[in-house]
Amino acid sequence: MRIEGKEYRTIWFENNVVKIIDQTKLPHQFSIKELKTVNDAINAIKIMEVRGAPLIGGTAAYGLALAVQENNDLEFIKKSAKELIQSRPTAINLKWAVDRMIKKLTGINSDQLLNFALNEAKEICDEDEKFCENIGINGLKIIEEIYNKKKDTVNILTHCNAGWLATINWGTATSPIYHAHKKGIPVHVWVDETRPRNQGANLTSYELNEEEIPNTIIADNTGGILMQRGEVDMCIVGTDRTLSNGDVCNKIGTYLKALAANDNNVPFYVALPSSTIDWDIKDAKEIPIEERNSEELSHVEGIDENNEIKKVLIYPTKSKAMNLAFDVTPAKYVTGLITERGISEASLDGLRKLFK
Ligand code: MRU
Repeated sequence: MRIEGKEYRTIWFENNVVKIIDQTKLPHQFSIKELKTVNDAINAIKIMEVRGAPLIGGTAAYGLALAVQENNDLEFIKKSAKELIQSRPTAINLKWAVDRMIKKLTGINSDQLLNFALNEAKEICDEDEKFCENIGINGLKIIEEIYNKKKDTVNILTHCNAGWLATINWGTATSPIYHAHKKGIPVHVWVDETRPRNQGANLTSYELNEEEIPNTIIADNTGGILMQRGEVDMCIVGTDRTLSNGDVCNKIGTYLKALAANDNNVPFYVALPSSTIDWDIKDAKEIPIEERNSEELSHVEGIDENNEIKKVLIYPTKSKAMNLAFDVTPAKYVTGLITERGISEASLDGLRKLFK
């Protein structure tokens, strides 16, 4: 990923601290923040300085390494692991990464714990980067196919931010788009604004601008009419947890886009690394859906004329608001799952062919 001409990853360890790009300040300010303790990592996940399923997995892994650095007593490490897992419940990558760290650290001598923890956290991040790159290579084939038929710009609709900022690098939904652009295929992206936190407008559009990919921000409810008008060739979204039956949990509003895509014969793809597959839960009703503070709805943030970030209230002061952060798109509306190992049908059979 390139930001203002410089290569970055979204998270790295340097001089005994974890460094992250503070996403709450984007697109208006680019700032790097230091996480020094496991509590810093928990807080960064909770307030969404880092966000996106694979990146919160990577942050939780490094967060646990910070816990070991602070105090390598096993009880403290286990308590920290529990708190990390609880910090954002919907994205399965978080639990997956913490469980993997704990497995790696079990039975290791205390003088070696920190080395092992840092190596494993880096390994989790390196692996995610490689997997997201492969998702791009696999998803590119779909975009290429559409382009070869259409011989004109491929219009892709995406929801929320499943780009490099949501992962370690490349992104999931955006990786095929970046690969297509690098190959010279003309692409244009319809970017769902993604209320309430505007990850599409604030982050996806920012990323696409940095990569010089044409994109247009639309209000969340615009996708339907664009699909009816034939102005969307395909949808690609990310996911926070995909069940082994192919049901896809992702940012609130994804389900409505999938319904519109289905009604208009627009292919609807979901891009994910295998760390986002939940092999245990069988029924989507069991997925813990995060309900966030209603202030995310009632207030909006932007910059004023002095370039200062300001938050303002946009709702009647007496109104109540409700803020569910994710919804589930049933597998029947998903054309395919783009993974690091290939493209699979959204079903247990399809996923098993690739992963078990
Ligand atoms: O609440 P967020 O911003 O963490 O939600 C992120 C999403 O819904 C992404 O689509 C998902 O995590 C996939 S990221 C590659």
